[in-house]
Amino acid sequence: MRRLRQLPTLRNIVRETRLHPADFIHPLFVRPGRGIRDPIASMPGQSRFSVDTLVKECERSFRLGVRSVLLFGIPPDKDSLGKSGYAKNGIVPRAVRALKRALPDLVVITDVCLCEYTDHGHCGVLEKTKGRRKKYAVDNDRTLPLLAKMSLAHAEAGADVVAPSDMMDGRVGAIRAALDSRGFSQTPILSYAAKYASAFYGPFRDAAGSAPQFGDRTGYQMDPPNVREAIREIELDVNEGADMVMVKPALAYLDVIRAARARFDVPIAAYNVSGEYSMVKAAARAGWLDERRVALEILTAIKRAGANLILTYWAPDACGWLHSA
Ligand code: PBG
Repeated sequence: MRRLRQLPTLRNIVRETRLHPADFIHPLFVRPGRGIRDPIASMPGQSRFSVDTLVKECERSFRLGVRSVLLFGIPPDKDSLGKSGYAKNGIVPRAVRALKRALPDLVVITDVCLCEYTDHGHCGVLEKTKGRRKKYAVDNDRTLPLLAKMSLAHAEAGADVVAPSDMMDGRVGAIRAALDSRGFSQTPILSYAAKYASAFYGPFRDAAGSAPQFGDRTGYQMDPPNVREAIREIELDVNEGADMVMVKPALAYLDVIRAARARFDVPIAAYNVSGEYSMVKAAARAGWLDERRVALEILTAIKRAGANLILTYWAPDACGWLHSA
């Protein structure tokens, strides 16, 4: 077996999996203001951008090879219904318009979920429950029209793809119907189909200020031990009209990516989430790991498992590393 491992040139021609800049989607946080680049303490190297600096950041990463971004909004104010999330001139629609004007060839995907916009931090509208142990639960069916409204606001601003991450049942169908009825039948949906109730989202919640103020997300996000259930989730979303589906997180769920790839022929995305990124950053800062080698190994593993697209905070860095490799 060692004959083909002797030289970089030989290893290169027999390599089974290759990363390419077009594999990556860079998640970015946008907030109100001007000239702001607010570093996220829990995610070294990532910032919350105002619209103007976001455009500059995307121009820089586009030059490196990044061809797609996913936007998360950090609104000026939050309320129980997340109204700032579906305002036509909200933070995400404004960012989308500016980005599409400056970089028409950048694929702009928007995250569709209420948790960044609600004061309670849950991904939907709350209802009081009667006679159950929990006092509140997320009301699935009252949340759907709000997600549809948010998707429309993003599509009207020019979003190339909308990506619902809330994990309500039936939201892909509701969003598809709303988009179709308003002239956006050509706007694709990337659904966070198999999204787990994971502790790896910790740094993100700090970045977006979206941690639930009470309770947790186990009532709507998936239970980590389950893989057959992920297949059912994906099947439902594909049947409701999802054009692409996502598994999230990625690294601790490579088996789920693999199972999804084997069963479905739609493009599969995997989200290399904040905790997976920040763990490596922390270890690299301590001098315990080589960030570049570990990051490329992780991204390669996610692709090898079967992902076609990888959402990763390393997107611009990884493009740079691939160029210099
Ligand atoms: C919420 C959302 C979350 C992430 C993406 N969309 C957080 C959550 O479910 O609490 C996490 C991303 C990451 O950790 O990098 N709509």
